[in-house]
Amino acid sequence: MAYATIVVETEEHVTTIRLNRPDAMNALSPELLKELAEAVEDASKNDSVRCIILTGSEKAFAAGADIKEMSEKSFVDVLTEDLFTQESEAILKCRKPIIAAVAGYALGGGCELAMMCDFIIAADTAKFGQPEINLGIVAGIGGTQRLTRLVGKSKSMDMHLTGRFMDAEEAEKSGLVSRVVPAKKLMDEANAAAHKIAEKSTLTTMVVKETVNRSYETTLREGILFERRMFHALFASEDQTEGMTAFLEKREPQFRGK
Ligand code: HXC
Repeated sequence: MAYATIVVETEEHVTTIRLNRPDAMNALSPELLKELAEAVEDASKNDSVRCIILTGSEKAFAAGADIKEMSEKSFVDVLTEDLFTQESEAILKCRKPIIAAVAGYALGGGCELAMMCDFIIAADTAKFGQPEINLGIVAGIGGTQRLTRLVGKSKSMDMHLTGRFMDAEEAEKSGLVSRVVPAKKLMDEANAAAHKIAEKSTLTTMVVKETVNRSYETTLREGILFERRMFHALFASEDQTEGMTAFLEKREPQFRGK
C-alpha cells in the first residue's frame, strides 16, 4: 500500500516502517499517525510478518507531534477528537514485537512513540527529550508514565521539567534504550535483531511480549503468577515439543507458531 508520510517494506518476515516527513523532522502529523496506525494494523494481520521495525531518518526518528497542526486547536477540539488516542491504541494493540531504531531526535511524541515499542536500539547520534514544557503543555502519549518507569522519577522529572535532551550514552546508562550502535550500523543491528526474533516461535514471542508488558500493569505477585501460568500453558504447544526435541537432537528448531 502506498503512503504519503511513511515508507513500508516487508522482507523475510520483518516489516520496516520508516517515518518519512523529511521537511518537518518527521513530526507526527495526524496524517502520519493515521498511516502509521494502519501500517501497524496491516503488519499485525499479515501472518507472514513476525517482527516490526519502526524507524525514522538519520536526523530524526520524530521531533514530536506536529506543532503547526496542533497550534490552532482548542481544548474543546482536542477533547472532542480525543487527539492521539486511537492511533496510540492501534500501536499498543499490536501483539507482534516492535523494535524502535532511533537515530537523531526522538522528542516529545517521538520519544513517546519509541517508548511504546518493545525495545529501543539507538544510534550514537540519538537524542531523546520531552520538551513539551517549552510549548506550555505536558507529554500526551505516555511520556510522564513510561519514561518514569524506565529511567526513574528523578531523571524523568529532570527531562520533563527542564526539557533538556538526553544523548544515547545517557539513555543506555539509564535504561531507556537496550543498546547503542554506530549510526551507520543502526539498520543492520535492528534488522539482525528483528530476524533473530523472526526465527523464534511466533506463539512464544507473543507470550513474551504480553508477559513482560504485564509487569507494568500489575503487582509483582500477580505478574509472577501470570508468567508461571503462561510458562505452563506453553507446554501445550507444538513449538515447546519442537524446541526441546531439537535441543536434545542437536539441531535447529523448526517452529510453526502452533
Ligand atoms: C512541526 C517541526 C517540528 C515539530 C521540527 N519541525 N520539529 N514542525 N512540528 N514538532 C520543523 C521546523 O519547523 C523546520 O521547518 C524543520 O522541521 C527543521 O527544524 P529546525 O528547527 O529548523 O531544525 P534544527 O534547528 O536542527 O532543530 C531541530 C529540533 C527543533 C531540535 C528538533 O526543530 C525542535 O525543537 N523541534 C520541536 C521539538 C518539540 O518541541 N517537540 C515536542 C512537540 S509537542 P521549516 O519549515 O522552518 O524548515 C509533542 C506533544 C506530544 O510532541 C503529544 C503526543 C503525540
